[in-house]
Amino acid sequence: MINIIFKYNNEEFKVKANEGETLLECALKNNVPLIGGCGGAGICGSCNVDIDEKYIGKIKEPDANEQDVIEYLPMYKPTTRLACQVIITKEMDGITVNINN
Ligand code: FES
Repeated sequence: MINIIFKYNNEEFKVKANEGETLLECALKNNVPLIGGCGGAGICGSCNVDIDEKYIGKIKEPDANEQDVIEYLPMYKPTTRLACQVIITKEMDGITVNINN
């Protein structure tokens, strides 16, 4: 199992994830308050999160569609990703994911 820490306001949610699921799927099944407005289709932007800088290089880069969506978000940073488009891998064990919504 892969350890993921979601942060929302001042709350921390420490959860266990399976390799191959998305950050959004992992959050929803653990009752983490992350909104997936388009059901994980990668078009609404509501599931945007900020990834721990130390891990950003360990995650596959956003594809062109994801990049288009995140760049229009008001809180866009180089560490911003759509949780529905990030697939969890073993390399992400211990990652902190900050929820923006
Ligand atoms: S749920 Fe809509 S972009 Fe991720």
